[in-house]
Amino acid sequence: MSKSIVVAMTGASGAIYGVRLLEVLVAAGYNVHLTISPSAQLVLEHELEIKVDLDDFQVSQLLLGDAAGTSDSKLSMLRQAAGISTSDSNVLSFDVGSPGMIEYHHHEDYMAPIASGSHQTAGMVVCPCSGGTLAGIVNSLSGNLVLRAAQVHLKERRPLVVVPRETPLSTLQLECMRKASEVGICVLPASPGFYHGVTTIQDLVDFVVGRILDQLKIEHGLVRRWGS
Ligand SMILES: Cc1cc2nc3c(=O)[nH]c(=O)nc-3n(C[C@H](O)[C@H](O)[C@H](O)COP(=O)(O)O)c2cc1C
Repeated sequence: MSKSIVVAMTGASGAIYGVRLLEVLVAAGYNVHLTISPSAQLVLEHELEIKVDLDDFQVSQLLLGDAAGTSDSKLSMLRQAAGISTSDSNVLSFDVGSPGMIEYHHHEDYMAPIASGSHQTAGMVVCPCSGGTLAGIVNSLSGNLVLRAAQVHLKERRPLVVVPRETPLSTLQLECMRKASEVGICVLPASPGFYHGVTTIQDLVDFVVGRILDQLKIEHGLVRRWGS
């Protein structure tokens, strides 16, 4: 299986899920093709005080620990409260050797490798996924790189996971989710369980990220599994 994965961050609440997913994928040795919508940029700043420059993106703007600013940043404080550290030895249940890397693509860059089906990937995750992007995907739109890469994954019959965050849901949003599921997209709402010994925000974030990794068949040690 290719060790290349596409992650798209769009403008739903829950930017921390996307950031955590990136960390874990890189730790697991995956090369992540990352694209970020302008609304996701707003949410990153609003929720995590992370400022990313979509025209001059540096991984260090997004990934933590060696990145993402000072120890008094909102994200650092959130992470401290949650007990999350980038050198988190519990992330993986196996030794991966060397970490992967992140290759960023601007949301209007249709020359990016992930705009073509000839570029092999193990799948794509839209995390978080806005209602707008989900509607675009199920209506076969391709007006930005997020949508185009999703269409590529659908036509190539590769795994596509969307992580919507909205509540309550309109009938039209439910209809989009039904359509998505019908065409083989995994609709994985950012809806953490509380049954696995939750004590921190990290437990909630990692629950959702762990379920995403399960869909991509990537081993991890993020959550204690039911029955284990
Ligand atoms: C701070 C903030 C939070 C938002 N939260 C959500 C949300 O939870 N779910 C959602 O579907 N849209 C949410 N939106 C609205 C989307 O960002 C908006 O519909 C946008 O057009 C989505 O564009 P995109 O899919 O290209 O990122 C939020 C917007 C902002 C600024």
